[in-house]
Amino acid sequence: MFGKRSAQGTSAGSPAPAPVYRPEPAQRAAPAQESAVPVFDTSLAPPAFSAAPPPRRPEPVMPEVKSEDYYQTKSVIFGALIEAIDLSQLSRLDPESAREEIRDIVNEIISLKNFVMSIAEQEELLDDICNDVLGYGPLEPLLARDDIADIMVNGAGRTYIEVSGKIQMTNVRFRDNQQLMNICQRIVSQVGRRVDESSPICDARLPDGSRVNVIAPPLAIDGVALTIRKFKKDKLTLDQLVKFGSISPEGAEILRIIGRVRCNVVVSGGTGSGKTTLLNCLTNYIELDERVITCEDAAELQLQQPHVVRLETRPPNLEGQGQVTMRDLVRNCLRMRPERIIVGEVRGPEAFDLLQAMNTGHDGSMGTLHANSPRECLSRIESMITMGGYALPSRTIREMICSSVDVIIQAARLRDGSRRITHITEVLGMEGDVVITQDLMVYNILGEDANGKLIGRHQSTGVGRPKMWERARYYNEEQRLATALDAMERSPDAGQG
Ligand SMILES: Nc1ncnc2c1ncn2[C@@H]1O[C@H](COP(=O)(O)OP(=O)(O)OP(=O)(O)O)[C@@H](O)[C@H]1O
Ligand SMILES: [Mg+2]
Repeated sequence: MFGKRSAQGTSAGSPAPAPVYRPEPAQRAAPAQESAVPVFDTSLAPPAFSAAPPPRRPEPVMPEVKSEDYYQTKSVIFGALIEAIDLSQLSRLDPESAREEIRDIVNEIISLKNFVMSIAEQEELLDDICNDVLGYGPLEPLLARDDIADIMVNGAGRTYIEVSGKIQMTNVRFRDNQQLMNICQRIVSQVGRRVDESSPICDARLPDGSRVNVIAPPLAIDGVALTIRKFKKDKLTLDQLVKFGSISPEGAEILRIIGRVRCNVVVSGGTGSGKTTLLNCLTNYIELDERVITCEDAAELQLQQPHVVRLETRPPNLEGQGQVTMRDLVRNCLRMRPERIIVGEVRGPEAFDLLQAMNTGHDGSMGTLHANSPRECLSRIESMITMGGYALPSRTIREMICSSVDVIIQAARLRDGSRRITHITEVLGMEGDVVITQDLMVYNILGEDANGKLIGRHQSTGVGRPKMWERARYYNEEQRLATALDAMERSPDAGQG
């Protein structure tokens, strides 16, 4: 009946495998399938991305609640399918043919085992099974949606998503922890990593560029925790941020000037507040002829300029060797004749090297950092340098910060889920032992509407001649800066919540 199809010369002779889910890594090499889902632009991708993304369903749909019966039926059919099919042969087919092959066999199984189901149910089951065999199983419908920012799987039974800044529970569930673990394993193996009991923490990426973190038992007590920051192919632009009210039009103009006149910028904000998005927006204002080097833990930035070198850190291997830290990358950058250095996330002693780079002729360098206010951002930089083992007096570190960082841009995710740029702050210098800063723009929350949405306003602080004035003059942007500051001061309201 379901003899292994065209299995000559392969594992056809081996005993039928147990009906468990076993991913086929070789399938990753299949050519990309036409899909309505935005696909990662491979021209920007490092070599590890050359493998095609798994086939995705063209119609993004939210899974409905499925009955226990459905899962039982699926489990039986899945088991029979795995016994019938030769996975290594399947992996050689293109996704469309593989899907057809699975379709034929599943239809045969359904009629042989006398399962009664409607055509629609049969189609749904087929999609589910194809996703399990060829893709990322129950995650597929979520991965196909572009409105999701994060997918958070807390063990087999619970999956949450973040949409429009709000976390929602979904009906997605995995057959069991083993299926979830297999999918995690498949994801991380694509970038040459491994996750299991002996190395239960792993960072990776999906072929489309989405950032992935897996933490497995025994560290994750209730089953594997998988977190995916969905990659947005069409990154948000400053104009879109203005449309969303994240920044006022006048504030956006100041940000453009900041990018253009090569201010050294730190984008500060909490987790998921939009730091990387903002950093990416700022890089749009870098000149096409500048040599830019980016250093990231997981490549998320998408620079449009042609002269960009993208670097990525590497965790240690199982023997604890081969680690390349952010600090190594930033230091190496300095020997690569960069004009600007962009550090995806500053979180350790590389802060020292980035400041030094900012200070030594790499104007316009940028980085992001986790902090809840511009003030906290300054003290975080200081503590990162101190913890890096530099025996420098704190005054020296502060002086170094003052002479390196020009502007801190603060991003925040507010309690109604909206993301706002809450401060554009200049670092002026030292007064005694204290770093003096000056806000050019702040976001003030004025109240809340009937739907619980916060109402606020981006307001100028009335600074007429910011510290970046001289810089703006040097780049012939003085008039533009003056106009923007003026407009910001006159603007009665912008960036309504
Ligand atoms: N102003 C905005 N308005 C709406 N959505 C936004 C805005 N900024 C960012 N986002 C979305 O929010 C999500 C998180 O953004 P981003 O990755 O930039 O955050 P982050 O602060 O870098 O997060 P992390 O701390 O995890 O690195 C993304 O899906 C992004 O598209
Ligand atoms: Mg980020």
